[in-house]
Amino acid sequence: MIVNRLETDKVRELKAACACLFSEAAAENESFLDSLDVDMVKRAYRRNARVHHPDMNVSTVVKDVTSDRFLAIQRSYEVLVTYLEELRPATGVALSRGKIIAVGGAKGGIGKSIIAANLGIYLASLGLKTVLVDLDLGGSNLHLYLGYRALLRSSINDFLKKRVGSLSDVMVQTPHGPILIGGDSSELGSANIDFMKKVKLIKGINAIEADCVLLDLGGDTSYNILDFFLQADHGIVVTTRDSAAYIGAYHFLKAAIYRKLNRLTGMEARSGKDLKDAALERYIHQATMSDTGSKTINELVAAVRNDRPEYLAAIMKAVWEFNPCLVVNRVPQGVRPEEVAGKIQAVAKKWLARDVRLLGSIGRHIDVERSAVDLVPAITRNPAGAFAGEIAAIGNKLVTG
Ligand SMILES: Nc1ncnc2c1ncn2[C@@H]1O[C@H](COP(=O)(O)OP(=O)(O)OP(=O)(O)O)[C@@H](O)[C@H]1O
Ligand SMILES: [Mg+2]
Repeated sequence: MIVNRLETDKVRELKAACACLFSEAAAENESFLDSLDVDMVKRAYRRNARVHHPDMNVSTVVKDVTSDRFLAIQRSYEVLVTYLEELRPATGVALSRGKIIAVGGAKGGIGKSIIAANLGIYLASLGLKTVLVDLDLGGSNLHLYLGYRALLRSSINDFLKKRVGSLSDVMVQTPHGPILIGGDSSELGSANIDFMKKVKLIKGINAIEADCVLLDLGGDTSYNILDFFLQADHGIVVTTRDSAAYIGAYHFLKAAIYRKLNRLTGMEARSGKDLKDAALERYIHQATMSDTGSKTINELVAAVRNDRPEYLAAIMKAVWEFNPCLVVNRVPQGVRPEEVAGKIQAVAKKWLARDVRLLGSIGRHIDVERSAVDLVPAITRNPAGAFAGEIAAIGNKLVTG
């Protein structure tokens, strides 16, 4: 128990903070402090601040009382967050760049969610605060792969429909290490989010305080899925050796880079005031979306260099910054994952001018099939098994770069 290792004054200070933000009973329950995390404190702070903020009260007398109460709430928040952040073990482990990992691929049933769930468990086991987000809004099942048979108490829909104020309000601490933001596709319309909701969701994801945020995507190339994928610092495209899967993987890569280029100039351009040029917009659109057959990225770059050299640097930057990688899943014995990846890499090099790295491969495992039935994550059931080793190899590459 943590309190046994703390100075009496510190215990008193922490208990007072718990009493202020939660309740007297929580403060007196010594295991409550052990179970506390920063997100719980933030939620409690927001709950209290909504009621006790001085601006919520018009009367001066009440205002004075609430001011004191509000100051106590702020102080309690600082005490608990500082304590929890100092407590977190300094593992020294971090992802090689950025915190967001997206797992995508333009086909269903190829193992995206299985990989996301088990990779999340592995990264959490390294000491990284890991949040898994189910962004397969029309086919959410990530919670199942983390052992939740029933629907979750709250889901991403509660955030999108403003039933809660923040993504941290729908976070669930799973027993396997990662925190889960689950989906609920049983709610009609959950898959069809409009532009504003998508922007809200992306903003919320970027604001998650974690070492690692893993996004499990649906299996198609809709704009929403591509935009989630493009948010990631590490984009993983999953394939299997089936023709439909590796052709789908290439289509996914192509759709993602085309989307990225079109967003440079379109209405969703983020930094692109200087790229707001109707002629350039038309130009990129024609090169990537024309019915008469699209250009290769190299042809597009050459044409921009020739006709619109002022935009060359921005176009090149967008292309260079597109660095997704591949994971070949369900590889049967005797099949080399490099061969499967090689087919995608060759076309990506020729048409998209990108070297797509093979991040790792996973065999076909009975363990994994079983985990989809009994809902015990394969990496947890058999941490020394072949599947766990393959997931660890992928996780370690994300950490070391
Ligand atoms: N390495 C593997 N070995 C054996 N079976 C696997 C493996 N990976 C995935 N599977 C099987 O494939 C099924 C589908 O996996 P999963 O749900 O992760 O696919 P998905 O790509 O997320 O699909 P969707 O796009 O429909 O969400 C699982 O039920 C599991 O049985
Ligand atoms: Mg899935």
